[in-house]
Amino acid sequence: MFLKARTILAQALGANDPTTKALIPPIHMSTTFVRDADNGYESGYVYGRTDNATVKQVEAILANLEGGAAAMMFSSGMAAATAIFLALERPTHVIAPTVMYWGFRKWLAEIPKFGHSVSFVDTSDLEAVQAAVRPGQTGLFWIETPSNPVWTLTDIQAVAEIAHRAGAVVCVDSTVSTPLITRPLDLGADFVVHSATKYLNGHSDVIAGGIVARAESDFWSRIQNIRGQIGSILGPFEAWLLMRGLRTLDVRVREQSKTAQRLAELLLRRDEIASVLYPGLPTHPGHAIAVKQMKGGFGGMLSIRMRGGERAAVEAASKVEVWTRATSLGGVESLIEHRASIEGAGTPCPPDLLRLSAGLEDPDDLYFDLVNAFSSSRARVKPLREAIAP
Ligand SMILES: Cc1ncc(COP(=O)(O)O)c(C=O)c1O
Repeated sequence: MFLKARTILAQALGANDPTTKALIPPIHMSTTFVRDADNGYESGYVYGRTDNATVKQVEAILANLEGGAAAMMFSSGMAAATAIFLALERPTHVIAPTVMYWGFRKWLAEIPKFGHSVSFVDTSDLEAVQAAVRPGQTGLFWIETPSNPVWTLTDIQAVAEIAHRAGAVVCVDSTVSTPLITRPLDLGADFVVHSATKYLNGHSDVIAGGIVARAESDFWSRIQNIRGQIGSILGPFEAWLLMRGLRTLDVRVREQSKTAQRLAELLLRRDEIASVLYPGLPTHPGHAIAVKQMKGGFGGMLSIRMRGGERAAVEAASKVEVWTRATSLGGVESLIEHRASIEGAGTPCPPDLLRLSAGLEDPDDLYFDLVNAFSSSRARVKPLREAIAP
């Protein structure tokens, strides 16, 4: 029977304990496994650095959600993303977005030291993507969509066609969309990468990452070897917590998307704001692609650019009381961040930008907290009914 993602998530793909019949599966903490008398390992488990039964349960859920052949969990999103590059066998030219998660962009800028080369292009511009291809050298396209922190949309299907014509593979960082909104493998991608630290876990208490492959291959086996060799597998307790978080992913993402859409529409009317960046707004440059490849909502991430520049942005962030000033995204509590100051020198992030991660609080409380933070006085703002009247 074909089950919808929501059912798979709520029941964690039916993971339970066959021995005790415990509904919630145990955590397999053992680092080593008993060898059989005939010197074999009939269970398939040898040592915890290469495999773990709790981690496998999460991998099965993620592979199923993304419609992939296999998934591998890592100790962080960065560990997952970098494993792909460590598994490249020969010097490779990589095409990656100009604007993307800053931490990974900084790491990518340094891959020439591993013998690879990288071209940063605006991946929403298909002509620019095509022009960056180096025949015979380009082996990997990296996409992040929507991409941090301006939420640029990249047409996954179109880039996959360019990549496959060039004989290259496509990896999509789909952290912000989650598998509930976009399934990159269905659109032609070869690998999907997640920082499971964000929406998949959703409670700001686990650092984790994952890769899902469309098909098993020699390259996939090399990634698996890398994880086993360097020991970047997800810890069992983190995997168990992640499985608990995943059970509510559907309701969380649906509510967070609704709240982000509502906030984006309300904030668009504020004089203090020069622009609202959210894929669900028709004014967003990537809206048409978002409509094409994001289903059931446009995600919980948005950014605002303050008319008063950097000072106004930093000041507004300093005054919030309901939003929490912190980095990261995708948790149940709403976060606000002056992104340029955390990214530091060389960032393409505008200094007037505040990144907002919508959580599960009441949307009215979130909106009014921002409005209060925008005003220099602490005067009470109008009730919502008045504020949204046309
Ligand atoms: C889009 C995206 N990808 C990857 C990462 C890296 O994930 P982690 O912090 O789990 O290593 C982040 C972290 O902020 C991110 O926002």
